Amino acid sequence: MHPSQLIALLILIATLTGCDNEPPQPRSEYSAHELFLEVRCDACHGSEGRGSWMGPALEGLDAYWQAGEIAAYLEDPEAVIEVTPRLAAMRHQYPSVMRSFPELSPEERRRIADWLLSRDAEGPTK
Ligand code: HEC
Repeated sequence: MHPSQLIALLILIATLTGCDNEPPQPRSEYSAHELFLEVRCDACHGSEGRGSWMGPALEGLDAYWQAGEIAAYLEDPEAVIEVTPRLAAMRHQYPSVMRSFPELSPEERRRIADWLLSRDAEGPTK
């Protein structure tokens, strides 16, 4: 057996037996959805971003947003809400408000923005 096959087999066994000896996945390898869950966007927008009583569904965003604008919004939502009546109106529909995400790097904010818009291109999920 090739050494790389052996390593793959050991990882598989560790995974199947629930043995957690693997180092945590570096954050740079997180998918956009994993980042979304990591910083708890799901707390208000639902695990798939389809909305909850705490926050709107993140669908059809391509009608209003470019990726760079969403990224800027994640950095400083107040500034964007101030100049966007549609968002200001949404303030009154939910018990929560969008907060800023300084814990996300600019690259991570952009990656989440691209992911949200790419879901629109795929069409609504069932
Ligand atoms: C504390 C609850 C909360 C969290 C956490 C949260 N949001 Fe929001 N989000 C809202 C609310 C409420 C709105 C509606 C606008 C407002 O009130 O600020 C909103 C609006 C948005 C919008 C605009 C929706 C539209 O129709 O244009 C986007 C995009 C968005 N959020 C993405 C995210 C992402 C990505 C994260 C995680 C990085 C996140 N939100 C985390 C509550 C939240």
